[in-house]
Amino acid sequence: MSRDPSPGSGGLPPAHSLPAVIDPNLSDPFLFGPPDSDPWLEGEALSEGAGRRILIVDDDALLVQRMCALLDQEFEVQGVCTPAEALDRFRAGERYAVVVSDQDMPGMDGTTLLREIQALAPETVRVLFTGLYDMEMASRALSEGRIFRFLMKPCSVDDLATVLEAAVLRHRRKTTWSQAKERMRFCNDSMQGFTKVLEQRLDQAHYSVVFALARLAEERDNCTGHHLERVSAFCRVLSEGLRDAGHYTDELTDTFIRDIERSAPLHDIGKVGIPDSVLLKPGKLTEAEWCIMRRHPEIGAETMNAIIATSPGASFLTMGRDVALCHHENWDGSGYGQGLVGEAIPLSARILKAADCYDALTTWRPYKEPWSHERAVAHVLGEAGREFDPKVATILQASERKFDHLRCALSDATPIA
Ligand SMILES: [Fe+2]
Ligand SMILES: [Fe+2]
Repeated sequence: MSRDPSPGSGGLPPAHSLPAVIDPNLSDPFLFGPPDSDPWLEGEALSEGAGRRILIVDDDALLVQRMCALLDQEFEVQGVCTPAEALDRFRAGERYAVVVSDQDMPGMDGTTLLREIQALAPETVRVLFTGLYDMEMASRALSEGRIFRFLMKPCSVDDLATVLEAAVLRHRRKTTWSQAKERMRFCNDSMQGFTKVLEQRLDQAHYSVVFALARLAEERDNCTGHHLERVSAFCRVLSEGLRDAGHYTDELTDTFIRDIERSAPLHDIGKVGIPDSVLLKPGKLTEAEWCIMRRHPEIGAETMNAIIATSPGASFLTMGRDVALCHHENWDGSGYGQGLVGEAIPLSARILKAADCYDALTTWRPYKEPWSHERAVAHVLGEAGREFDPKVATILQASERKFDHLRCALSDATPIA
């Protein structure tokens, strides 16, 4: 304030004027700033926000007192004489529609203060009082959007009131815009949440239907109790073990592991298309009957394709098709289905094949007693590189404790509720 020219001295200034700063004869040429127009908001119901609360910050206590007195009729005006007091108020949660700050103050200049206030209360509209010597700085602050207007000293009370009215209006619009954005964000979040729930329910419905179909197919020729649940769980253990050992890490994402657990039960879904005379035949199959039997991977894939066509977004169904089509492929190419070899066989099918075989070996079947874990693992390891992916076989061997736990938890003697 000390460098401002003083138009008068001695005695109180006339009404509607302030000494040294407010000149009733000065008007528009001292008013700067962009036009206040947000056409898209015209006609909107405006929120009051901080209403017409104005904070004046100036180290000239007399000036602050007089500004408060002159503006008191139109606005709810408060004044402080230091930037620290102003910041304390904002930090304490007080809110103002507009803050008018002097530029030249001890301790902190006006632009710095307004920047601090912008961080604390971005909705508060900032106006700077400045002298001619700070024109360049004020113009820069204005163009950078840090202040709404600047007023050059001296200026008239009318000009000050005009700027404050525009600033209050801007504050209302900012508040309205901010509330509208908040409402839009809330609606958007709600819609996303709702959509997610619907997708989860749809996904679960798909899984339930497909799992029921898989169980029907499984139980046509084999009363295998919890076979499907155990195979699912074994597939998860093998997938996690492979990933932990650093194998196939590009493929073994969390989504893959979740999908293989859900798609594993679909491996023999193609048996729905095999006639009873073949599927349930007690004796040895003829070569012609084997040809029919060997079609179940293909029938399974066709079944899955029909389901996928109605639910193209469900990745576990796509994996289920791979598992159904390729679960009888052998690592060395001697299996059946598509005649694939090695890593050309989908990883999901290679994992499923080991899990499915292990479960068949370690559970009771009409034609055999259950094998021990060691004997089953020895068989799988013996077939590694011919029938099974060697890495999968190694992980199976290393997962004894987990497999034992799952076999107990999902044993057919004590079904899980
Ligand atoms: Fe099969
Ligand atoms: Fe099976």
